[in-house]
Amino acid sequence: MKKKIDFVLNGAKVSMEIDPLKRLLDVLREDCALTSVKEGCGEGECGACSVLLDGEIVNSCLIPVGTIEGAAVETVEGIRESENGKRIIDAFAEEGAVQCGFCTPGMMVGAEWILRKYEDPTSDEIRTALSGNLCRCTGYDMIISAVKAAAKGGRK
Ligand code: FES
Ligand code: FES
Repeated sequence: MKKKIDFVLNGAKVSMEIDPLKRLLDVLREDCALTSVKEGCGEGECGACSVLLDGEIVNSCLIPVGTIEGAAVETVEGIRESENGKRIIDAFAEEGAVQCGFCTPGMMVGAEWILRKYEDPTSDEIRTALSGNLCRCTGYDMIISAVKAAAKGGRK
């Protein structure tokens, strides 16, 4: 049975009649056309579906949309407009942190979360924070360098 759900998506109010058990991942991709959010494993193991939910990084494949009433959801489509987001995108390009790109939106969501949490994140802090985000291509070092560069770019 459908239910009315209201939430805030990338800063805009959203209201929809929807199956409350539908995964947030599918709602974002199918009902909101936000295809940066990827499905890798579908069971909380890869981080490809990462989004920010009230500022915390979550796996959207594990979240029934009925549980997010009133919450704020952020994806790369929203994050890329912010100062942090622009720095993150530039740093990923400059450091060669994108290869096939499948993990990249989830990594960038993780990077945004790190930049909000740490002014000057260490490599260990970045590795720990991104430990739920898997990448088959890069070997991670370029991604860590990109997050460090993005954080450095934001410091006065
Ligand atoms: S698709 Fe959600 S964690 Fe892998
Ligand atoms: S760039 Fe291919 S999975 Fe990370």
